[in-house]
Amino acid sequence: MLQHDWLPIASVSQLAQQNPLSGRLLGEDLVVWQGENGDVQVWRDLCVHRGTKLSLGKLVNGCLACPYHGWRYDETGQCVHIPAHPEQTPPEKAKAQTYRVQVKYGLIWVALDTPQHDIPVFAEWEDDSFRNIPSGPYQFEAAAPRVIENFLDVAHFPFVHSGSLGDPAHAEISDYEAQVTENGVIAEGIEIWQPDPDGTGVGKMVTYTYKVMRPTIAYFVKTAAQRFAAYYAVCPIDETQSQGWILMAMNYGFDVPESELITFQDVVTGEDIPIVESQRPELLPLDLQAELHLRSDRTAIAYRKWLRELGITFGTA
Ligand code: FES
Ligand SMILES: [Fe+2]
Repeated sequence: MLQHDWLPIASVSQLAQQNPLSGRLLGEDLVVWQGENGDVQVWRDLCVHRGTKLSLGKLVNGCLACPYHGWRYDETGQCVHIPAHPEQTPPEKAKAQTYRVQVKYGLIWVALDTPQHDIPVFAEWEDDSFRNIPSGPYQFEAAAPRVIENFLDVAHFPFVHSGSLGDPAHAEISDYEAQVTENGVIAEGIEIWQPDPDGTGVGKMVTYTYKVMRPTIAYFVKTAAQRFAAYYAVCPIDETQSQGWILMAMNYGFDVPESELITFQDVVTGEDIPIVESQRPELLPLDLQAELHLRSDRTAIAYRKWLRELGITFGTA
């Protein structure tokens, strides 16, 4: 099923720093590169001559050249030049495996098979009254569903993010609603106390709404006086490795330097990483009997139910 999803493989800024770039999605090694026409290409990271990784190659005359014997592939994936036989037109079969690509929200998305859903919308990112702050990638030695479930979990804020997102003296979670819908999971009215929710230095209650739009793409909006939204795009590298990009959009704090907001997210996610990596079993158990659940775990319960309904077997048990 995830083969039919648009999933993030890299950010546009990563590709600007390194071209070609290697990536891995659902256990498949990929090469990401950008040719002279500006289109981003994502291919299987394999030269059809001797199976060398094309991501070790370089760009030559607008083509991607294999590092081993220099075969050059054009933007359609066709090999157009074999240096050992320059007079010969390369056989039509000398072609790289190409995939569908989209660039959206500063990320490069790939679908390994025919996509069945659009890239989930991040409305605040597209809203001019919000400022946009990209962060990540964050690397996890953990299954993508574990990473997403951690994003949905507010009950850990007072402990893992004490002083920033929560306070152990205010750890109660009031009742809220979470449900599985046709378009994923939605949880609304999650009220928690935060020490400094909007940069004014004053602690108060805030309300979170969470959505899981695709199995590894989730979102929240936090409403206090202002709105802060985050969109989490997680790449399942393989069953127990993931990387995620957190895109933030806020309609306040326009004078706060971007680097400060990114550093804040780096610190918060850095606090989550060892917790998530420590979780066992590594694969998210979809059998609701397997772990203990509380009322405050409603979002996670709905997420697990939904993954089960969808028949997701990658990163789950
Ligand atoms: S393995 Fe790529 S050119 Fe030979
Ligand atoms: Fe966290």
